[in-house]
Amino acid sequence: MIFDTHCHLNHEDLYKDIDEYINRAKEVGVKTFLVVGYDKQSSLLAIKIAEKYDFIYAAIGYHPTEINNLSEEDFNDIMKLLDHPKVKALGEIGLDYYWVKDEKERELQKEYFIRQIKEANKHKKPISIHNRDAINDCLTILKENHVDMGGVMHCYSGSVESMYEFIKCGMYISLGGPVTFKNAKTPKEVAEKIDLDKLLVETDSPYLAPHPYRGTQNEPARIKLVVEEIARLRNVKEEEIEDATYRNSCKLFHV
Ligand code: NI
Repeated sequence: MIFDTHCHLNHEDLYKDIDEYINRAKEVGVKTFLVVGYDKQSSLLAIKIAEKYDFIYAAIGYHPTEINNLSEEDFNDIMKLLDHPKVKALGEIGLDYYWVKDEKERELQKEYFIRQIKEANKHKKPISIHNRDAINDCLTILKENHVDMGGVMHCYSGSVESMYEFIKCGMYISLGGPVTFKNAKTPKEVAEKIDLDKLLVETDSPYLAPHPYRGTQNEPARIKLVVEEIARLRNVKEEEIEDATYRNSCKLFHV
């Protein structure tokens, strides 16, 4: 049994053939999906999908590259939906310094990251964090703003040392396609060293397809390759990784 804790079946490339992608994932053992929003439209669609399928849940929120010119009305419209029964997390939220170099915009990202952490606490939801090239600021924010219900570092790409710091802040660590890349030294180290009680798996599909599909459109069924690689690195059976990550996901998202 596998829980894909971060996929975008709400992305047009997957949504247009959603049943086909769901069925293919089920064939390899994916039992539960968290469909993650990144702006208003994708968050609303994540909820619509979750309402249709029992085994799909939604995360809603504003991604750091989607907060420019965000109106208060649109912000509040989504935050209000955090109490919807199929919404299990606030996300993806965080910092992205890869796409955003402007200092003012980065300050705005921090502001919305902190605001959304507060909303998550208010609505008693965990968070799903997107962090790209901003690990120090991300850690500082988490240390200064307690995350009551915990969360997950989605597609974690940082070092083993930082991993321990994030875990101390109440975070789980989620690995996806990059752990399978031949040159991915750091994610492989994280996969080997992490306490199994803190690990989750994901695809981030349609992005980040695992080896040997790197660079092509990803889909939830390919999570099997992520599980296989983690099991190989730890020299354990795949079921052990599936069971632990499934249990952790249910615990974090309260499903
Ligand atoms: Ni994502």
